[in-house]
Amino acid sequence: MRIRGRLTVRIETLRWANGKLEMIDQRILPAAFEYVACDSAWSVAEGIRGMVVRGAPAIGVAAAYGVALEALRLQGMSKADFRKGMEVGFGVLAQSRPTAVNLFWGLERMRRVWVSMDGQDNSAVAQRWLAEAHEILAEDIRINRALGAHGAHLLPDGARVLTHCNAGALATAGWGTALGVLRSAVEAGKRISVIADETRPFLQGARLTAWEMVQENIPVTLITDNMSGFMMSRGEVDAVVVGTDRVASNGDVANKIGTYMVAVLAKRHGIPFYVACPLSTIDRTTDSGADIPIEERSADEVTGFREHQWATQGVTVRNPAFDVTPVELVTALITERGVVHQPNRERIVDLFPD
Ligand code: MRU
Repeated sequence: MRIRGRLTVRIETLRWANGKLEMIDQRILPAAFEYVACDSAWSVAEGIRGMVVRGAPAIGVAAAYGVALEALRLQGMSKADFRKGMEVGFGVLAQSRPTAVNLFWGLERMRRVWVSMDGQDNSAVAQRWLAEAHEILAEDIRINRALGAHGAHLLPDGARVLTHCNAGALATAGWGTALGVLRSAVEAGKRISVIADETRPFLQGARLTAWEMVQENIPVTLITDNMSGFMMSRGEVDAVVVGTDRVASNGDVANKIGTYMVAVLAKRHGIPFYVACPLSTIDRTTDSGADIPIEERSADEVTGFREHQWATQGVTVRNPAFDVTPVELVTALITERGVVHQPNRERIVDLFPD
């Protein structure tokens, strides 16, 4: 179901309306601004897989709503059938995309709620899950604000900041992680300008980051991915700030394909490389970047864009959607609990005192 939307100042990537989860359709931005409504775990999983909603924190929030929607749909069943149906729902959501750990973090949090409500009526569980999904959404915005305030201190007035992919309001419940840092710096009165990598093949930079910055009159210059080395070599980049889909226990960072290339270039040119990273994106069960599952997406994203296909038919294609930046290339992780300079295992453990 599609709902035509009007853009409000705050970008509501995900919203609860009329008993459904509505998500901005990020496949068609900026040409059109529309919401897609979801009413089950299946439709949310489809939205995640198909990139209606994308970006690690936004995927985590959507998955939580997917659980709540499935419970509302199945609440009239017997307790045994409800349990079986919910296990299928959890499974469908978990299968939607593999790399962003926030998806599994969100599902795990919902599962803990379920365990705590053992024996209660289906409808009570469904309502409690819905309340938890609302809380995860609100919390995500608070976390991004806190993270943004910490990160803003790292950027000097007048900084020209390169970013890759979209780690903005559209990739979260609002404000953004990497773009949240930039928004917070602007809010603090700093003159910040943004260099947005186009981000082949899905064009999150050209379509989404550029759109977000233009909406807010934050100066933005769009470049193709192969131009960042040139810009850095000419002294036109002061800092890099990116988001992440999963940080391993040793600090290795998985993010959108092409991020590693930017990190190597930043090191070469002595430019700080910052990773904006809510704690929900740190996966303490993954030892290093080598253990992070990397999603491979369909060949037609590389051979063309949507219906317009330009590569020769029959060519072999690779389309890894993410890469891993080794921790030694990361100047600092920016989290809601503060900035971790030169991250390593010990400093990451210190982020989780409880
Ligand atoms: O494939 P996508 O668009 O979901 O990839 C998104 C990214 O790589 C983002 O940089 C990451 O999820 C951080 S979003 C705050």
